[in-house]
Amino acid sequence: MQKEFDLVLKNCLAVQKGQAFKRNIGIKAGKIEKISLDIEKLNSVKVIDCKGSFLIPGLIDSHVHFRFPGMAHKEDWKSATRAAIAGGVTTVLDMPNTIPPLTSRHLLQEKTAGVKADALCNFGFHFGATTDNESELKRLGWVPSIKVFMGSSTGSLLVKEEKNLERIFKIANKKDFLVTVHAEDEDIIQENLKRAKWDGKNNAKFHNEIRSPAAERVAVEKALRLQKKIGNKIHFLHVSTEDGLGLIADAKKERQGVSCEVTPHHLFLSEEDIGKLGNFGKMNPPLRSRQDQNALWKGIGKGIVDCIGTDHAPHTLEEKQKPYFDAPSGVPGVETMLPLLLDSVAKDRLSIAKLTELCCENPARIFGLKGKGAVREGFDADLALVCLEGTTVIKNENLQTKCRWSPFNEARLQGKIEKVFIAGKGVF
Ligand code: DOR
Ligand code: ZN
Repeated sequence: MQKEFDLVLKNCLAVQKGQAFKRNIGIKAGKIEKISLDIEKLNSVKVIDCKGSFLIPGLIDSHVHFRFPGMAHKEDWKSATRAAIAGGVTTVLDMPNTIPPLTSRHLLQEKTAGVKADALCNFGFHFGATTDNESELKRLGWVPSIKVFMGSSTGSLLVKEEKNLERIFKIANKKDFLVTVHAEDEDIIQENLKRAKWDGKNNAKFHNEIRSPAAERVAVEKALRLQKKIGNKIHFLHVSTEDGLGLIADAKKERQGVSCEVTPHHLFLSEEDIGKLGNFGKMNPPLRSRQDQNALWKGIGKGIVDCIGTDHAPHTLEEKQKPYFDAPSGVPGVETMLPLLLDSVAKDRLSIAKLTELCCENPARIFGLKGKGAVREGFDADLALVCLEGTTVIKNENLQTKCRWSPFNEARLQGKIEKVFIAGKGVF
């Protein structure tokens, strides 16, 4: 008899619409073809018994820096997508602060061609806005977002003047593009730098004084003021402070089109960890106070936070071992997000349904990724099988990312990623 399915995942706890249901999943031609209570109805070439494990959609990491082109010594798309898959991430959206930055349609074409052979998972590219690429934006086809750096970070992208931001927001609104913003105010950062007295010690704590909570608050305020006036869709990346999140919460109460992300490092680390981490805890925006950290968790509970994105930003060990001022900002994270969050599920800090909402459903909706982010008939069979038993120990030497370090080195976490599928094929 002709087998109807390529693969059946039987007896799994499929996480759907905020709940876990015991189901059998029939996969055919890369799609979830049938979700059934009755295993007899699913005859398949291959059957995997998933008893006791949760089946969730493969994670969508909507915020990664995979470094191509121009910075292959930090990461390349082979190592980066291997890391993604090992972390249960099946789709990544990559940021434009490469060398050169992704700010023209021509470079978008080149990047797409350059990445294709190496990428082991699904991908898309955010497009960088500058003070003078308006004509490119106007002619651009679909992209997941237009990225604006309001404060300078790794790379050369920066748009700080209100009139330029307004122009970009207007084009985005007209073309129905989402604007993603790195909200740190450049002028405040520069002011703080002028006034700051660095004692020459390798103290990354200093970072939180230079890129201060006020820098985030002022940038969020400015972006929201413009967004309210123009009406474009806006998504705040890596919100790190109670104040920044509070402003976003107020705006969300008032109007549509505002969403935000937090990162695993701001959820699981605070400035108290910098003593131990040094520059391995240096990133933009910086690690903040315990109070800020707790506010992000509360924001998740209250439904203010829409997404968790990793801001996976690898730099080499050598670069990170330089003195504070010379060490670049950023930490890897694509591989460790799901293990960290599973541990939180095991410890009742987060439900598995909420994890799925933050890392799958919401990113798919916000960035317009059709057929992704849910365990649903007709959707792509990008899936992760996970369990809350067992232990995952994060170890630098086992990481797939080219930089081979993590701020979570040696963390012992409850739960395990058991299998990962992309388009119905086992990849981990
Ligand atoms: O810490 C960061 N690193 N923040 C950013 O905004 C950029 C990123 C990078 O690309 O290194
Ligand atoms: Zn980033």
